[in-house]
Amino acid sequence: MQAKARQVMEPEPQRAGTWRASVGTMRHLRRAYYDKFSRFYDRFVALHSRDTQGLARRFLADRMPVENGASVLDLCTGTASLLSHLHAKVGQDGQVVGVDFSHGMLKVAREKIRSFPNVHLVEAGAGRLPFAAGTFDAVTCSHAFYELKGKTQDWALQEIVRVLRPGGAFLMMEHDVPPNAFVRALFYLRLAFMGAGRAITFLRQEQEVLERYFGSVQKVVLPGGRSKVMICRKH
Ligand SMILES: C[S@@+](CC[C@H](N)C(=O)[O-])C[C@H]1O[C@@H](n2cnc3c(N)ncnc32)[C@H](O)[C@@H]1O
Repeated sequence: MQAKARQVMEPEPQRAGTWRASVGTMRHLRRAYYDKFSRFYDRFVALHSRDTQGLARRFLADRMPVENGASVLDLCTGTASLLSHLHAKVGQDGQVVGVDFSHGMLKVAREKIRSFPNVHLVEAGAGRLPFAAGTFDAVTCSHAFYELKGKTQDWALQEIVRVLRPGGAFLMMEHDVPPNAFVRALFYLRLAFMGAGRAITFLRQEQEVLERYFGSVQKVVLPGGRSKVMICRKH
């Protein structure tokens, strides 16, 4: 597995002229936003989720149906908050790879994984993954899928299916729709603010969308009910 970070752009939609230029500019701005956010992301998450011990991410890693020695990919890995839990699950003989398109996030992540020789970081877009088909036993994505813009969600799902081995699992953790009306409004506002109007559509039909890509899809709600994990198995 390549330990060196690589820069891989997502595919550009096949449209000419200013439309394509503005898509490129938006992507650049989004990356710049995450680069800045990386400086206080961990503190923000600890405050916002009140999960200072990473219990939600440990829950996700524990649900991963893999053995010791497995190869696992964490998509949109951010500051690597999930990687130590994935490492604990696959052990010294396993391989863990974190992918993210933000250089700033990966810079913070690199400090955290220093002591794990079998954990690697790759700088790449979620819509075009630089790995051969069937490379991974499992792919995870924690609190990031709803933030993928437009067509990138479809490209990412196609890529996840491609890089998973037959029978492999995709685990997606997201906040569940809050039952409280005010908190729910804030939840939708966050999605809209991220420019992810499409994410709201995805949210309402996510079981059907995921079933188009995977043989089975199961929803597990975390204790406390604030987050959920969608466990998807490839045929
Ligand atoms: C809210 S953070 C989640 C980070 C991490 N998974 C966690 O659980 O803390 C979203 C991450 O997705 C990354 N991201 C957003 N769009 C992406 C894309 N198209 N390709 C790769 N990474 C992307 C951002 O850089 C950011 O690190």
